[in-house]
Amino acid sequence: MVEMLEEKRESWGTRGSFILAGIGSAVGLGNLWRFPYELYDHGGGAFLVPYVVAAFAIGVPMIILEFSLGHFTQRAAPYAFARGHWRLEFVGWWSVLLGFVIVTFYPVVLAWCFSYLWFSIQGIFNGGKLPWAGEGLEGVENAKHFFYDTYLGYREGLTLGGVRGHLLCPLIITWVIMHLCIFKGVSLVSKIVWLTVPLPWIMLLILTVRGLTLNGSIQGLAYYLNPDWTELAKATTWRFAFSQALFSLSLAFGVMITYASFLHRKSDLNNNAAIVGLADFGTSFVCGLAVFSTLGGMTFVTAQAGHPVPLENVAEGGPGLAFVAFPYALAQLPYAAWFSAVFFLALITLGVDSAFSITESTLAAVVDKTGWSRSMILPVMTVIGIATGLIFITPGGLNWLGIVSDFIDGTWGITFMGLLECIVLGWLWRIDVLRRHANERSDWRMGRWWNVLIRIIVPVILGSLFFWGLYDDLTSAGGFLQGLEGQWHVGNCVGMGIMLLAPAISICLNMIRGRTTQEPRIIPEGGSGQGRLIGILALGIALVAGLPLWFLFRRTLQGQLSHDTLMLAVIPALLGVMVVLVANHLLNRHDSATLRASWFARWAGIMGLLDVCCFVALLLIFKTHSQEEVSAAQTSMVAHDQLTSVSYVIIGMVTLLLTGGLGWCFYRALSAASKECEVQMPDEMPVP
Ligand code: PHE
Repeated sequence: MVEMLEEKRESWGTRGSFILAGIGSAVGLGNLWRFPYELYDHGGGAFLVPYVVAAFAIGVPMIILEFSLGHFTQRAAPYAFARGHWRLEFVGWWSVLLGFVIVTFYPVVLAWCFSYLWFSIQGIFNGGKLPWAGEGLEGVENAKHFFYDTYLGYREGLTLGGVRGHLLCPLIITWVIMHLCIFKGVSLVSKIVWLTVPLPWIMLLILTVRGLTLNGSIQGLAYYLNPDWTELAKATTWRFAFSQALFSLSLAFGVMITYASFLHRKSDLNNNAAIVGLADFGTSFVCGLAVFSTLGGMTFVTAQAGHPVPLENVAEGGPGLAFVAFPYALAQLPYAAWFSAVFFLALITLGVDSAFSITESTLAAVVDKTGWSRSMILPVMTVIGIATGLIFITPGGLNWLGIVSDFIDGTWGITFMGLLECIVLGWLWRIDVLRRHANERSDWRMGRWWNVLIRIIVPVILGSLFFWGLYDDLTSAGGFLQGLEGQWHVGNCVGMGIMLLAPAISICLNMIRGRTTQEPRIIPEGGSGQGRLIGILALGIALVAGLPLWFLFRRTLQGQLSHDTLMLAVIPALLGVMVVLVANHLLNRHDSATLRASWFARWAGIMGLLDVCCFVALLLIFKTHSQEEVSAAQTSMVAHDQLTSVSYVIIGMVTLLLTGGLGWCFYRALSAASKECEVQMPDEMPVP
């Protein structure tokens, strides 16, 4: 059957191309403008503890999940899910549609980068003068003024205003480039990534070496790395680490599923996933070195010149870092225009392969469903992309960009989709099929721990974050959808509308019969399923335990959570744990090639999990609230004048993790290749 699916599927030429494409998608704007700031803002080097846990204990196993799903089914996300059961197709569409929302605003940021690259190149020819240059704190204001007022024409509020003509051209250029990169399918992408992945690394290397050789760079690094261990006790630090890791690894939006669906049959999956995870982390860390050493250099220079700009005054994440702080810092230093060109070229090359990876995931999903040709669908998508991008290049566009990206990045976007993916694949699919599939062809194997991770541990973490995020939204000071005086918050309503429209459209798409609807399913149909009686009982217990938990959650929303009420939740939570364990046992026993564990057992497991998540979320909410009261008066005690010895140890450990990890991956790849050389051979299948 697999052979049947295989026919006519394109493939990556070599393993290297696939790995680079995976890295290209993962390594993007998130690495350069989000990671360094998150680290700085959440405890410096201490943030690496939750981040490394998130990236390697959760992120890499989830990449393996997406790789094996895409590779096993040889389909983009919707049909990949549908191979488990036809009703699951909508999950794939949901993730693909939300991914497409990213692709409406991500190219807009790339368009800004193109403009700034152009300004820098003009600067090179104008004797080094950059339009945002200025001195001291006034200079920072000048850089802000240039970006927000002169360039974006920014206006507060949600009224859009007219399209800014000079932003349209770079937006179209961005889309044309993305179009050209993917119009021929992965055979061309596999060549392009040999440019778009190493090039930003070279640029980053130049910026890092330059930054580290500046006077004052070490002070900059002290801000970046000196650890504040008290941050580890805050649940919010962990929350940021998890969402940053998922976003940075391009998870939950169907991208890695699609990419792996084009991989030839014998290729490794597990080791490739680990390499992508390590490369992404390494890039993020180096981005931080480049950014903070340069900001440190700027602090030194401005202090020397008698108009000091403290690093705290400019350190920020997102557009503020890339288009105000960093360009300002470069403008204080020699060869400003040259380095600023290098910086924006790095951003463009980092971002473009992430952007086209998401486009590819939507494109492949539509092609799989309809059988229409890429050359017909891609232009339509490009036009839709540019048309929706117009919203973000208006004076009010930046506000909308913030709203949409916050939703995608937050509770309803990445957290929920990651949770849904793990729950569906863990409990409704047959996860062990994927594990065996991945193990059969990989340089190293995963034990049953991986099933437990995907089925229980990751959903508990993401589910708790989901409930916690829900609480935050519903209790936000000015109201979430409606303000205290009954006025609607249009931004949140639109954001929520998009989040709800995606599943609605997905369900409709699920109902339309497509080209591949007849493909064989991996869950055996018919029969009543094994473990039905226990399953019904377990489901009953999970539902009963859910009632008091839900009731407590409602009370918490009204601000009535106390230690005693929390204690009341322990018993239903324990019942939830019990149900999860029993259901997991039933699935392990009965999910064989010919038997099917009862749907009751599956749903019991899911309900039990939600019970546990709800309890953990209550615990986290309680802890955060009691901490807020204690820590309100405390300010960080970390000194930033010198890198501490602990920071040097941190740098050493990260280097060890990266070199050791990558060394081990390559060693395993080489030894597997020498044992069975055809494993790593390029695809022998003819490319249509
Ligand atoms: N990982 C990309 C980044 O760090 C963003 C991205 C998210 C790309 C989801 C594809 C899918 O910028």
